[in-house]
Amino acid sequence: MKEHELIEAALSVRHNAYAPYSKFKVGAALVSKNGDLFTGCNVENSSYGLAICAERHAVGAMVAAGIREFDKIVVAASPLASPCGACRQFIIEFGDGIEVVAVDAENPKSISRWNIKDLLPNHFHFDQIRDHS
Ligand code: THU
Repeated sequence: MKEHELIEAALSVRHNAYAPYSKFKVGAALVSKNGDLFTGCNVENSSYGLAICAERHAVGAMVAAGIREFDKIVVAASPLASPCGACRQFIIEFGDGIEVVAVDAENPKSISRWNIKDLLPNHFHFDQIRDHS
């Protein structure tokens, strides 16, 4: 799958975001290693802390489909947003080489890209616990 298709998917699903409180709509799209597309948007709630971010929504959709490997995730928001800390941890669970691409939804030529490892150095993972127990 070409990156522009992933960007289109993130821009498109962003329209479905449920963000009546923050008014900040986010769409995320990832392609799994076997080439399947998964998308997610943020879903807020009157109980504000329950909001789920677009990235975790997309990763959850992939896992629910029985897939656990992906190389790239695109996040579309305006202004452009890099994933929050919780989403960084959620993404790195599935690989420390994953590429994160952030796109400005109002100006999709404005793109930033990072490796998840650089966004979350020294991340928590369970092996650390096992190694030190
Ligand atoms: N949000 C995301 O969906 N992804 C991010 O990377 C940053 C924040 C959502 C959560 C909330 O619904 C709104 O954006 C404002 O924080």
